[in-house]
Amino acid sequence: MLEIRSLSKSFGGVKATDNVSLDFADGSLTAVIGPNGAGKSTFFNLITGALRPDAGQILLNGVDMAGKTPPEIVRHGIGRAFQVASIFPSLTVEETMLAAVCADQRRAGVMHRRFPLAETRDRAEHAMELLGLANKRNRTAATLSHGDQKLLDIALALVLEPEVLLLDEPTAGMGTEERWRMIDKVRELWEKQKITVVFIEHDMDIVFKIAPKIVVLCYGRILATGTPDAIRSNDAVIEAYLGSEDRAGAVA
Ligand SMILES: Nc1ncnc2c1ncn2[C@@H]1O[C@H](COP(=O)(O)OP(=O)(O)O)[C@@H](O)[C@H]1O
Ligand SMILES: [Mg+2]
Repeated sequence: MLEIRSLSKSFGGVKATDNVSLDFADGSLTAVIGPNGAGKSTFFNLITGALRPDAGQILLNGVDMAGKTPPEIVRHGIGRAFQVASIFPSLTVEETMLAAVCADQRRAGVMHRRFPLAETRDRAEHAMELLGLANKRNRTAATLSHGDQKLLDIALALVLEPEVLLLDEPTAGMGTEERWRMIDKVRELWEKQKITVVFIEHDMDIVFKIAPKIVVLCYGRILATGTPDAIRSNDAVIEAYLGSEDRAGAVA
């Protein structure tokens, strides 16, 4: 269970996260939406430790993550996708996965066990299968399509077996068809892995179709939370979106 309590973060005079409290139940799938600059990425950056909160708590199973370093937070079970392809462009998909599992095993001290390699291969294989990358295992990261590079980012987060997975706009920069392929994968891995998934997404068609729960942020605050139907008919949400030109009509 991930519980956010009175979380706040300001940049100069801007309250990017303003006294946010939210619960994410174990195994839930939640979309975070909101106009540009609403504080969505900041909210994720606080949870993963990339940013330090000014105030508030981030409780994972009762343990406060606020003030911990990103590696410590990953070890506690909160994962996020990074841009792997740009970090290790010349490694193949399989090599990338194996390297990630090895690093995790070394950290956890299991290399002292007698047969760590079988486990290494199994974990890497499982993550590649889940994201549909097994048949591209010998391709180098740099030669993958944009969509497959993103899937590799998610596979790398998953290989560390997180309890909570945070995805900041996993469909960014994709065409319509690629978007749906990505989001179907996200939904599939959520169903199969039974982990808690929270994703930021600006395509309303996607959000309303796949997220059982939606959180709307605006000026760093929670404007509304609820089911797609409740959010679609929420006056404050409609007003916030109609006030932002590029989103006009998006939730109507
Ligand atoms: N590192 C930073 N330094 C200064 N201001 C920031 C920083 N990160 C975010 N902000 C500001 O905080 C607000 C929320 O930004 P962000 O969380 O990126 O919004 P979103 O992801 O919803 O578009 C914006 O006003 C943005 O300019
Ligand atoms: Mg953002």
